[in-house]
Amino acid sequence: MDKLAIIGGRPLYGDLRISGAKNSALKVMAACLLTADKLILDEVPDLADVRQLLVLLDNHGVKAERDGQRLTLDAGHISSTTAPYEIVRKMRASFNVLGPILAREGHAKVSLPGGCAIGARPVNFHLMAFEAMGAKIELEEGYVLAEAPAGGLKGAVVDLPFPSVGATEHVMMTACLANGTTIINNAAREPELTDLADCLNAMGGKVEGAGTSQITIQGVSSLHGAQHEVVADRIELGSYAMAVGATGGEVLLERGRRDLLGVAADILDECGLSLVDEEGGLRVSRWGTPTVSQSVVTEPYPGLATDLQAQFMALMSKGDGVATIKETVFENRFMHVPELCRLGANISVDGQTATVKGVPSLKGAEVMATDLRASMSLIIAALSAEGQTMISRVYHLDRGFERLDEKLRQMGALIERVKDD
Ligand code: EPZ
Repeated sequence: MDKLAIIGGRPLYGDLRISGAKNSALKVMAACLLTADKLILDEVPDLADVRQLLVLLDNHGVKAERDGQRLTLDAGHISSTTAPYEIVRKMRASFNVLGPILAREGHAKVSLPGGCAIGARPVNFHLMAFEAMGAKIELEEGYVLAEAPAGGLKGAVVDLPFPSVGATEHVMMTACLANGTTIINNAAREPELTDLADCLNAMGGKVEGAGTSQITIQGVSSLHGAQHEVVADRIELGSYAMAVGATGGEVLLERGRRDLLGVAADILDECGLSLVDEEGGLRVSRWGTPTVSQSVVTEPYPGLATDLQAQFMALMSKGDGVATIKETVFENRFMHVPELCRLGANISVDGQTATVKGVPSLKGAEVMATDLRASMSLIIAALSAEGQTMISRVYHLDRGFERLDEKLRQMGALIERVKDD
C-alpha cells in the first residue's frame, strides 16, 4: 500500500487545472443506461471510483471507451438488470443504476449499498420516490427488487424529507422516462445536479428547475445520445483553495469559479484568503496575513459542503483564535480529528461539533487516512506543518482526487508517493 511523504512549510504557486467533478461524473455515467445511443462525456476524471463504476456498467453490458478525459459509453443493449453486491458494496453511488435500469427495462435488482465509515446512509428516500412513481419495491436478501407497472413508471410528486443529493439525482434521471410529470420538492441544489440536468436535457430530457428547491421533469418516451462536459470539481477546488490558505502563496485554479463553492467562498474571504474569478479560473492567494478563525456549520449547497468540512478544519488548526465546526449532514464525519491532533492541532469534539483552538504551528508525524475527504485534511495540515508527515492508506485519496501528488508537486509542494514495506 502506498504512502505519501510530505515535507511542509512551502507556499504553493502556479496554475492548476481542476478536474471534472467525481460526484457529477458518476451520475452522468449512470445516465448512459437511459439510452440505447452513445453518450460522450468530456472531462471525466481518471479516478478509482470512476473505474469502479465502469466495472458495474460493464456488468450491465455497457461498452466503454476512454480517450484521455473523454469517455464514450454505449448502453445499446442492457445485458443484465442485476447489480450484484460484490460490486455495489465497493461504492455507494453504484446504487443509482437502479432507477435508469428500472425505467428502461421495467425491472431491476440492485444490491443495497450498506452503511459506510461516515454514517448509515440509508436509501429510503430513493425507494419512497420510486413507489410514488408506481414501482413495486421488495427487499430480499440484501437486494432491492423493483418492478415498474405494466404501462411503465408514472410521474409523481416527490416530497423529499431532506434535500438528498443522491435521491434528487436518482429520481430526476428515472423520471425522464416516466409517463407524465414528476415534481421533486425540497430538491438538492448542488452544482452536480445542475450538471446532470444539463446532460439529461442534451439527451432529449425535459428537466426544469435544477439548482432550485423544486425540479420538474416531464417524461419522454426515449432519450437519445449526446455529448456533455462534466462540471469542475468544487471539492477539489475548495480543497486546493484551503491548501493555499494553509501554506500561503498564489494559485490560479483553472475551471474554478466562486459560485461553485457556495458560501465557502465567502467564508474563505473572512479567513483572510483572496478568491477572485478570472477569465479561465479562480485565483486564490494569501500573503502573510494570519488565518482568521471562523465558526461554520455544514449544510446542503449553497451552504458549506460536508465534503469540505475536514479540509476546513485543517485550515482552522492554525487559525488565530477558536473556531467551532458543526457537522449536520453525516453523523460520523470527524474521523480526521485524532489524526490532525497527531500533527499538533488542538481539537475537541462534543457530539456533532468540533472546537478548534488555533495553534501557531503544526509538526510532521505519521498519520493515517480514514476516508476520502478526511485524507485531504491531512494533506493540507501536512503541507503547512514543520518537517515530514507520512500519510498511510492513501488509496482513500485515489478514489476522489485525480493525480493528487503530481498536482501538488506542480504547485511546488514537496510530496512523494512511497511504496509501503
Ligand atoms: C452525495 O452523497 C455525495 N456522494 C457525498 O460525497 C456528499 O457528502 C453528499 O452527497 C452530501 O453532499 C456522491 O455524490 C457520490 P445525500 P449522497 O443523499 O447522495 C440522508 C464524497 O466524499 N439520507 O445528500 O449519499 C443521509 O444519510 C461523498 O465524495 C437519508 O436519510 O448524500 C445523509 O445523512 C461522501 N435517506 C443525508 O441524507 C436517503 O434515502 C445526505 O445524504 C438518502 C439520504
